[in-house]
Parts: sequence; structure tokens; C-alpha cells
Amino acid sequence: MTPGMPGFAPRFPGVTLERLQSWLPTIGRVGAVVAAVVVLLVVVSRLLRWKAPRVHWCLFGFPLLRLRMRHSWRYLCLNADLTGTDRPTTGQLGPLLVKGRPIMPVLPLLTRIRPRKFGATAVILLHPGQIPDPFVNAAEAMAHAWRVHAVRVNTAQRGRVRLTVLTADPLTTDRIAEAAAWATGPPTEPAAVPSTGSAATYAAADTGGGSVAVPADLVAEVGHREDGQSWVIDLATFPHWLVTGATQSGKSTLINAAVARWAARPVALVGIDCKGGMELAPHAPRLSALATDRAEAADVLAELVAETQRRMRLCRQLGARNIWQLPAHLRPVPVVVVVDELAELYLVASRADKDEALRATTNLLRLAQLGAALGVHLIVAGQRVGSDLGPGVTALRAQLAGRICLRVNDEETVDMTLGDLYPDAVEAAQQIDPSVKGIAVTTADHAGWIRARSVYLPPDALTAVINSTAHLAPVLPGLTPPA
Ligand SMILES: Nc1ncnc2c1ncn2[C@@H]1O[C@H](COP(=O)(O)OP(=O)(O)OP(=O)(O)O)[C@@H](O)[C@H]1O
Ligand SMILES: [Mg+2]
Repeated sequence: MTPGMPGFAPRFPGVTLERLQSWLPTIGRVGAVVAAVVVLLVVVSRLLRWKAPRVHWCLFGFPLLRLRMRHSWRYLCLNADLTGTDRPTTGQLGPLLVKGRPIMPVLPLLTRIRPRKFGATAVILLHPGQIPDPFVNAAEAMAHAWRVHAVRVNTAQRGRVRLTVLTADPLTTDRIAEAAAWATGPPTEPAAVPSTGSAATYAAADTGGGSVAVPADLVAEVGHREDGQSWVIDLATFPHWLVTGATQSGKSTLINAAVARWAARPVALVGIDCKGGMELAPHAPRLSALATDRAEAADVLAELVAETQRRMRLCRQLGARNIWQLPAHLRPVPVVVVVDELAELYLVASRADKDEALRATTNLLRLAQLGAALGVHLIVAGQRVGSDLGPGVTALRAQLAGRICLRVNDEETVDMTLGDLYPDAVEAAQQIDPSVKGIAVTTADHAGWIRARSVYLPPDALTAVINSTAHLAPVLPGLTPPA
């Protein structure tokens, strides 16, 4: 081609080589500006990621994620069977009625994609005829399509599915500073606690100026959930809890965190630790009773059953359905019974053991059945919970509505802990990383279940809390505080 030809190429008539040459400086300048802007964006993005991760997430990370979610939504719905239809799925073919999938599926609406500090949340609006189950099953597919750590699906609301998109595992970060802040933070003002006993005793205790428990005292903040909220063990919502976890998975650490919270409140704490008292010994100064073997456990539990019966009579006399309906000056103190290593109560080696085990476990079951309304709550922890411990275990489990499953070694324990209430949580519990301690799958209020991590309270911090609250330990009738 020679300069001066009328057209540079047949497809671009009018574009001559001379013209092109005259544009070159402008093209160069625009290219340089674009390159400079890109470099600037990369530098700003890196800087923000380092200095202000939240701003970085809102300006860069989230818009990209949102784009990816929108772009992949159609393919995701088609591949993971999330589509609905607005046409009949049956039709007539000659004399036959045929059933099939319509060629034109309708996508459920993905809406309200909002940035959060852990990633994002979104809502899917279901079409009539759609159910949430396929969305629960597609959580893994969504996580892959959007290249995020995990997607949690909450189906509590009718007609819509809520998504929590987690860009990274928020539970594996180093939270030593947070733990320190947690231990020194002022969750509740320590208050004097009235002793418990007959109506007269409660009244007498209260005139001593003690504070009366309210349901909010039963809520213990024990760590962080993966959606960024606090992890709480709320005995007002779930009166009894089952905690399972292999050795060194974090059961005692979790119990320590809860006890440290309740210690400062008008709550009586009772320990049943048939490992010779090794696990609950640090709590001893704040405990109203501590059983260190099965015989002692059977006695302590029997006294607590007697206490629930006294409370029951009191409620009946005053026409109350639970202790919270009693007048404040007559309300007995709530009791939290911590059982560390459930199997030690059930396992029997000899005939003599059998009677003792039966007495202890029967009383435990009675407490679980009666205690909820009468302010007696159970936190039952064990390494392994299986039907082989005895038929009473399944009956007990049925009463323990709050469930926490840390890392466990056997499938049956995961199934026993979560399988009956949250079948879709079993897989999440089996995937808990053994290298990160204290991670659990737990019952959560509205979300059904969620992953969470307990706060680690160093031994000296726990001792400080226990010693500073030891004077608050109420005296329970028939029980002697540990020496
Ligand atoms: N949430 C956590 N954060 C950091 N470290 C933790 C956490 N939970 C547990 N750990 C670590 O794991 C160790 C073992 O935890 P813990 O004693 O609570 O286990 P366990 O389940 O009670 O074990 P065992 O069944 O043997 O009594 C703790 O000493 C602590 O170092
Ligand atoms: Mg332990």
C-alpha cells in the first residue's frame, strides 16, 4: 500500500495512512493516561488493602464480587438446578401426556447484594413452587462460582433465601488482642447474689440487698460467629446445651469463657467433673458445689432435683409457670450445672458402678426435663456421645436443644450432636480444621446453625475473674461449696 491511497482498508474507507500517522501521538497520550490510571488504581488498592481493609473492600473487593455474582447467576442457576418455570411441566403429545422440563426456565431473582465486613449478604426471591432445599445444596457451587471461602444459606424466611457470603474464614485470624479486650471488658457489673431455698429464704436473701436475676443474665458471650456477630450461649432461648469435641478441641476453653461471663452475674454455678475435678478446678472458688467423682455427682444431682421440686411447689403456690413469673423478691437464683465429660457418668465397669451410674444419669435426665422453667440449666460436655453409652443418652440429648460440635473424631458423635436437628450442619462439622482450635458448629437463633470460634481466656485471666467474683457464689440448699 502506498501513502495517499484513497482508503486505508476497504473496511475503513476514509482512514488513510497519513490520518493514522497524525492520530498516533493522541493514541500514545491516551494509552499513557490509561496505563497511569491503572497503575494508580493498583497502588491505591494495595495501599488501602494494607491500611484500610474495609474501605478497600467497599471500593474494590465488593464491586468485583457483585459483578461476579451477577455475571455467573444464570449459569449457576442452570447448572445447579435452581431455576423455576412459568409454564406447565406436562403437555399432550397425540394420545400421550408427557412430562418434562420446559426449555425456557425462569431464574430466581438475586437481589439486595450488600457489602459486609465479612463479605456480603444477598437475598434470593423464590418463584411459586420453588423450595429452599436446592439452594442449601448449591452453597458449595456458589462458593466456587464466586471464588469465596463459603456461602451460608439461611432459609428461615418464607419465600426467600438469605445468603451470607464469606470471602475468607474469619475464625482463623489471630484474635489474641480481641481475647484480651474481651477478658478485661465490662460485660456486667458484679452483683451480690441471693442464696436460694424456700420462699422465706429467698425473701430474706433479697432484703440483704442482693440483686435479682433477670433472663438477660443467662446470656453468655463466648466468642465470635463467622458472620461477624457475637457467639452467645443463651439459656433463656435454649435452656440446656450439649457440647461435643475430641480431646484438645476446645471444650474446656469454651466452658471457661461462659463461666467467666456468668460468674459476674446473679447466677449459681455447679460443677460435675468426674475426671477428678481436674477440668473445673479453676472455677472452684466461684462454684456453689463441685462433684469430682460419680458418687458425689449422683448426690449433687439428687440435691438439685430436690431443689427443682421446691421451686415447682413455690411456682404452683403463686400460680407462676416459671421462675421468671415469680415476684422479684421471691425469685430463686438461676443455677447453671456444668458437666465435663458426660461419658464418665454413664460408663460402668462393675455391678456397683451400675447402680451409681443409674442414680446419677437418672437425676441428670430429670433435671433436663424439669429444670428449664425452674431456672436449672445444663451445659453437658463430652468427647464422645453415642448410643453405646446407654439408652438414657438419647433421651438426655432430646432435652439438650442447644448444640455445639467442636472438632470430633467419629461420625456418630457429629450425628448425635447435630444430625437430628441440623442434618446440613453435619458436613460443616466434619470439615472443622484440626489445626485451628476452638472452632465449632453451633445452634444459632435465627440462622439455625453457624460456625463460630470461642474466645481463649488465658489461665491467669480466668483466675482473676473467678477470684474477683468468688464472693458472689450463692449457697444452695443441701450443697456445700468446694473447700
Ligand atoms: N478458641 C480457642 N482459641 C485459641 N486456642 C484455643 C481455643 N480453644 C482451645 N484452644 C487451645 O487448645 C487447647 C485445648 O483446649 P481445651 O483444653 O479447651 O480442650 P478440651 O476439648 O477441653 O480437651 P480435653 O477433652 O482433653 O479436656 C487449649 O489449651 C488452648 O491452647
Ligand atoms: Mg477439657
